[in-house]
Amino acid sequence: MCGVFGYTGKSVANDMVFQGLKRLEYRGYDSWGIAVNNDGKIQMFKDIGEIQEREGLKELPQTTTAIGHTRWATHGGVTVNNAHPHMATDDKFTLVQNGIVENFSQLKTKLEKLGYKFTTQTDTEVIVKLIEEQSKTTEDFEIAVKKAFKLLEGRNTIAILRINGDILAVRNGSPLVIGKGKDGIFLASDSLSFAPYTNDVVLLDDYDFVKISNGKLHIENVLTGKEKKIVVQKLKNTYTNIEKGKYEHFMIKEIVEQEKTIFNATEYTQTELKPLVQAIQEAHRVYVLGAGTAGFAAGQIAYFLRNIAKIDTQEVRSYEFNTYKNILKKDDLIIAVSQSGETADTIEVLEMAKKHGCKIASIVNMLGTTISRMSDFKYYTNAGPEICVASTKVFTAQCAWGYILAKTIVGELKEAKKNVTDLSNLLTKYFSEKTYSSIEKIAKVLKNKEHMFVLGKGENAYTALEGALKIKEISYKHIEGFAAGELKHGVIALVAKGTPVFGIISNDEDCKDLVSGMEQVRARGAMTIGIGDSKFSKLEVFDYFLVVPQVEEISNISNVIPFQLISYFLSKELGNNIDKPRNLAKSVTVK
Ligand code: F6R
Repeated sequence: MCGVFGYTGKSVANDMVFQGLKRLEYRGYDSWGIAVNNDGKIQMFKDIGEIQEREGLKELPQTTTAIGHTRWATHGGVTVNNAHPHMATDDKFTLVQNGIVENFSQLKTKLEKLGYKFTTQTDTEVIVKLIEEQSKTTEDFEIAVKKAFKLLEGRNTIAILRINGDILAVRNGSPLVIGKGKDGIFLASDSLSFAPYTNDVVLLDDYDFVKISNGKLHIENVLTGKEKKIVVQKLKNTYTNIEKGKYEHFMIKEIVEQEKTIFNATEYTQTELKPLVQAIQEAHRVYVLGAGTAGFAAGQIAYFLRNIAKIDTQEVRSYEFNTYKNILKKDDLIIAVSQSGETADTIEVLEMAKKHGCKIASIVNMLGTTISRMSDFKYYTNAGPEICVASTKVFTAQCAWGYILAKTIVGELKEAKKNVTDLSNLLTKYFSEKTYSSIEKIAKVLKNKEHMFVLGKGENAYTALEGALKIKEISYKHIEGFAAGELKHGVIALVAKGTPVFGIISNDEDCKDLVSGMEQVRARGAMTIGIGDSKFSKLEVFDYFLVVPQVEEISNISNVIPFQLISYFLSKELGNNIDKPRNLAKSVTVK
């Protein structure tokens, strides 16, 4: 979703911001803009579509201070006019925002009554006009910004470029981090975007007001006015090299990386896991939550905790957690699952849980992000940057982490590590031309199908949901995942002659039920595709079968991989934008 990037320093700010925005692209956007300050004048360039060199952009004067933005439309269509930055009426400042002004219509109505004329449909323009209105009551522009900011409802982060060359920013809810490089200061939605220049960061808290003026950084709390001590932290794993390498797309690169990332996620020692193990054992109840793919990983982690560690665990989608608030107890433990660490739906639950006094643990991919910082027990998937919008390697890394956590609780960490290592080794062999060509064949068959279903049961129930989501996201095909038991209670009505139905099968107590579900759909003419243990590959019930490396207890992790590959090859076949599927954003920072 929206990305903010600002720079002031010795390098050409236009170029720094342009490159920064390119590195924020993966978050998802539909338009973009850059504003530079030159000789007491602000000049801007905005465009819709892909960030690329344009004539108008080249015409901007080269300066040492600039801000930029990638917009993911919420209020108002995708137009150049609605793209950020938004200029003040008197051209004295320009502003970018990440978030949603929830009281946008009330504020807009009030401002219109005061005579303000709006030229865009964005909620961002309301902030600009609000600052102008507050400026009437004070000579001090910074005070006007703070006063205006306090009137906003919702999770909003703003950055402002003034004609005097200052950059101001306020963070609330939506991410913002400072980078302190040798030759300049960065301000951005994530540290990855300035990673080639520095991994020295200043992490910001909600309501931090930032001023970067003449190369100096000042931070204070916008509510209390108290100055904040600037603490520079070094981020451990800064990934400067975000390249596709020999791969055509980030998605396939990230899928193949799973041979290593599943293992990396489990590189925790008993000592490192102990505080969380103890908290789980002492908790009244454990909730595991996330949204989208992370929500399915949460389901898988909860499955491991219940079935391996015998812990009373409930998985909940973050955006539905409110329905549990009346039974939430202070000795409940929340485990938040997130790639970005910035998902608004999840953060909102954590805020509520904190108020209840619950302890929070998290498994996050991106370092130094809000969810980790809110957590009493922080763990990282260590999967490296995931650039393709559709999550692949982080999903399996999160599941693998959940597995070793559950095994640690029952004193079997060593066995868990062996299993994960075995799986990693098997995957190295699995990612081969032979595998790709068998998947491509299936993808060609699926190309002309409009509706598909995925069945899984028990350990593979969440694999079915995630498998379907993966295909849906990039191929835009209608595909639904179900726990196989659901079939006869309704879903089967949708199965017609030729409808592709995937069945995920491991050598476990549920395999018979899965086979019988597949028999039922086949009897109604479905085209059946088995995914899983080679032991079942010759069963007549399957028209096609994709064999997946199996390691006992974690075959549900590897069983998702063919879906990732089908999603990739099918979308390639369809000519879709694989790494940046339509309408989706990588970091979902608004509700
Ligand atoms: C799908 C996908 C999304 C995210 C979801 C939560 O491939 O990536 O469904 O899983 O938006 O995001 P994070 O994991 O950043 O909390």
